Amino acid sequence: MCGICAYQGPETKAVEIVIEALKRLEYRGYDSWGIAYKPAHLDQNKPQEIEIYKEVGKIGDFKSSYDQFGKSSFAIGHSRWATHGGVTKRNAHPHISENKEIVLVHNGIFENYLNFKKYLEKKAHTFKTETDTEVIAHLIEEHYKTHSFEDSVKLAVKEIEGRYAILVINNKDNTMIAARKGSPLIIGVGKSKGEYFIASDIPAFLPYTNKVVYLDDNQMVIVENQKIRFFDNSTQQAIEKRIIEIDWDIESAEKGDFDHFMLKEIMEQKDTLSRSINQDPITINKVARAIENAHGTYLVGCGTAGKVCMVAEYLFAKIAHKHINFSFGSEFPYHQQFINNKTLLIAVSQSGETADTLEALEVAQKKGAKIISIVNVEGSTMARMSDIVIPIKAGPEKAVASTKATTSQLAILTMLAYACDGGVEKGKQLLIATAGQINDMLNPRYENHIRKLARKIRKIESMYIIGRGANFPMALEAAIKLQEVSYIHAEGFAGGELKHGPIALISEGTPVIALVPNDETTKEIISNATEIKARGGYIIGVSSENHPVFDYWIRVPDTGATSPIINIIPIQILAYQLAVLRKNNPDMPRNLAKSVTVK
Ligand code: G6P
Repeated sequence: MCGICAYQGPETKAVEIVIEALKRLEYRGYDSWGIAYKPAHLDQNKPQEIEIYKEVGKIGDFKSSYDQFGKSSFAIGHSRWATHGGVTKRNAHPHISENKEIVLVHNGIFENYLNFKKYLEKKAHTFKTETDTEVIAHLIEEHYKTHSFEDSVKLAVKEIEGRYAILVINNKDNTMIAARKGSPLIIGVGKSKGEYFIASDIPAFLPYTNKVVYLDDNQMVIVENQKIRFFDNSTQQAIEKRIIEIDWDIESAEKGDFDHFMLKEIMEQKDTLSRSINQDPITINKVARAIENAHGTYLVGCGTAGKVCMVAEYLFAKIAHKHINFSFGSEFPYHQQFINNKTLLIAVSQSGETADTLEALEVAQKKGAKIISIVNVEGSTMARMSDIVIPIKAGPEKAVASTKATTSQLAILTMLAYACDGGVEKGKQLLIATAGQINDMLNPRYENHIRKLARKIRKIESMYIIGRGANFPMALEAAIKLQEVSYIHAEGFAGGELKHGPIALISEGTPVIALVPNDETTKEIISNATEIKARGGYIIGVSSENHPVFDYWIRVPDTGATSPIINIIPIQILAYQLAVLRKNNPDMPRNLAKSVTVK
């Protein structure tokens, strides 16, 4: 959701670097974009008008030549996901202040912006947009009348309420200042002297460097005179930060030969499961002990990660005979009366940056609870807020609809449930066997079989998914997958709940997917499918065995307790195929963002 990137260094193609970086951040979801840059032919240390270029729509549609921008060694860029004010060129970032001295890009929400807007209007500032961001640019300029650039930004960040990441430049010198609170910002340290990148996520600058510095909340970076400095806004002290070398390579963040990231990431599940269960046994046992000792454990996540947590609730009950609570991140604050310093919160997140999950962590932290996170993005905010981190190790996931991170999260939680029962090795063996089965399953013949089904149902308006036990949350997840990319109305239900209402929606030919594992739920979910069939429903069975009630059978291997992992994979493929057939972009579905950094 919104992407920031900036370049400053010896290269004279800063604009191209920044626009290409914005393209690599496209997965975050956005509706317009823009850049600001300083032409290289001008004296960089004299006041000069900063050039701004904005567009509505996809950066991929930008086909013009970079030559039009001339040479530049100093540029910032932004992809906007509209919150305040419609999707227009004018509302796109960067925003400029009254006297054009300050230019700024911003992620997040400036919650108290209206108070400042009124205050600034009284001081003769005029606003050209409805955005909260423009107000920050004016606010900094107001301080800039009596303070240095750096102090003006410091004063402004004290005034901003809400979660944000800002990146500010001025028209007088080549200083770039970025500050964050609740929205990610990472600094890339380039290979040449004085070369720096600032971005919302690492893939933005991965072709240039793997040396990064993570900015924490209430911290600020100042890039000037070919150097970087850091400052802590809460203590008002200069601070030192460590440069970390990350081991992601650019291939892992590119599409390669695949048409879409979503398909690439589905196929990567051949390896990702094995990678994710390759964890330090000491950490896994430490987490198992923390669950044993906690007076109440909450699993917290949003969207797909939330559904994974719901599955885990069943797995812990069945495998470890342990009750674990679940809450969506956005609902967790309403449980806070139950949270104390003996509570354990386990956050599950691909990005480690989802605002609602982060808020849950903040609430738990304030109450003194212990925090463990299962996250994919190394060094993310959640990881850094946690007492223990279990890395998901799925590699960069770029398609908005989560696939490989989901199955890896499920694998780690299955392993943890076994660890709580004292059988971590047993869990690991089961998961290794499951990984092997996934490897066999993901072949072109399998894809074709699912494509055939996609062709059959591509024009339908609604579909339903049913499951029981641990496969009930998977039915919910299956529905999300289908909604996100195919835009077909899809809903998941617990098999037994159908007769309490939703069965009224079934008519001749309504497709219903039944998740039918070989376990204690088999008989009953088959009888639910039979009830639906009796009302005209078209039954798509995801199962290791064909049952007479199925109109279409999608075969999956029988992997026992890991059936939620196995059963979601064909649905991921089906959702992808439907998206393609319906001419949707599966990587960037409308209205959605990969990393939801606003509440
Ligand atoms: C967004 C994404 C989902 C994801 C959810 C939680 O809604 O579109 O795919 O499941 O955020 O994200 P997280 O990064 O915390 O797993």
